[in-house]
Amino acid sequence: MKILVTGGAGFIGSHTVVELHQAGFEPVILDNLYNSNRDVLKGIQQITGVEFPFYEYDCNDLEKLRELFDKERFDGVIHFAAYKAVGESVQKPLEYYENNLVSLLNLLKVMQEYKVPKFVFSSSCTVYGQPEQLPVTEDTPRLPATSPYGNTKAVAEDIIRDFVFSGTVVKAIALRYFNPIGAHETSLIGELPNGVPSNLVPYITQTAAGLRPSLTVFGSDYDTADGTCVRDFIHVVDLAKAHVKALELLDENQADQYYDVFNVGTGEGYTVLNLIKTFEEVNKLKLNYSIGPRRAGDVEKIYAQADKVNTIMKWKAEKSLAEALRDAWNWQLKITQTK
Ligand code: WQD
Repeated sequence: MKILVTGGAGFIGSHTVVELHQAGFEPVILDNLYNSNRDVLKGIQQITGVEFPFYEYDCNDLEKLRELFDKERFDGVIHFAAYKAVGESVQKPLEYYENNLVSLLNLLKVMQEYKVPKFVFSSSCTVYGQPEQLPVTEDTPRLPATSPYGNTKAVAEDIIRDFVFSGTVVKAIALRYFNPIGAHETSLIGELPNGVPSNLVPYITQTAAGLRPSLTVFGSDYDTADGTCVRDFIHVVDLAKAHVKALELLDENQADQYYDVFNVGTGEGYTVLNLIKTFEEVNKLKLNYSIGPRRAGDVEKIYAQADKVNTIMKWKAEKSLAEALRDAWNWQLKITQTK
């Protein structure tokens, strides 16, 4: 099966291209390289031994998408391409709504025109805001998202659902990611944030590598075991494998119309300090960090109830927090050496 992977040169996208190949799929990469670069394509090729077709296109360009769908006959699409920085989205809401939603609308239009039947969408646990109950299940009501980024994901889910039940050939699954971390065990691909990382783990690895003086832990006065926020940290390779399972589930599905959402998390919550201690232990180093004020918009605690994805999609996280933090550190050492 030939699968278009938009954002396929990105952090989760690149790991998913590798797992698609390992599972016998034929990935085609589309990426405008806004938040990535061609070295990622080299890393994918070194891991798989294959140079996958790559199109440096933007999903906002409907004509380019038509050109691509004319040329390549796709059996499905996995849509990662989007702006994803929570903080930045508060400063630039119009760019976020335009980029994330126009690209989705274009893709769905073209899938309809070219009768491409399978769609897997990269959604996010940010659609839950701060859930009242934990662990959070897929039936937990979506709260007003705490950022324009999170809202683009919530609105996108509604667009996809309405589109699927309008009688289109397209069947769809939305995967609500928790906190993806880590890197491929070969250290040939990993997380490559541009500029100052907003996410915790790349900031930790850059601090440990001496690229940043110190990590600031945003708040230690939350109502949690040690006062720091709780998150469900999932290894990016486990997350990538969930996309393969989602395509397989869509392929088996015989219903006329099908749309569903799945939490993709480990089901375990760890505090920021838990993660720091684990990082220090598994990598045998001391991290320079201090406690600072809370970060606006942060959710206090969230972690997944993963029963649905375990039973229906037959996917379960296999890698531990320690493995993810070892892989993240090995990746950081590799890119720091090659700089
Ligand atoms: C995690 C925790 C911070 C940086 C991310 C993505 C979002 C979505 C969910 C996919 C928080 C703390 C962080 C730092 C810190 N994923 N922190 N110091 O905010 O949970 O959201 O996962 O869609 O798109 O952004 O992730 O890594 O920014 O923060 O103390 O320098 O680490 O306060 O508690 P977050 P994060």
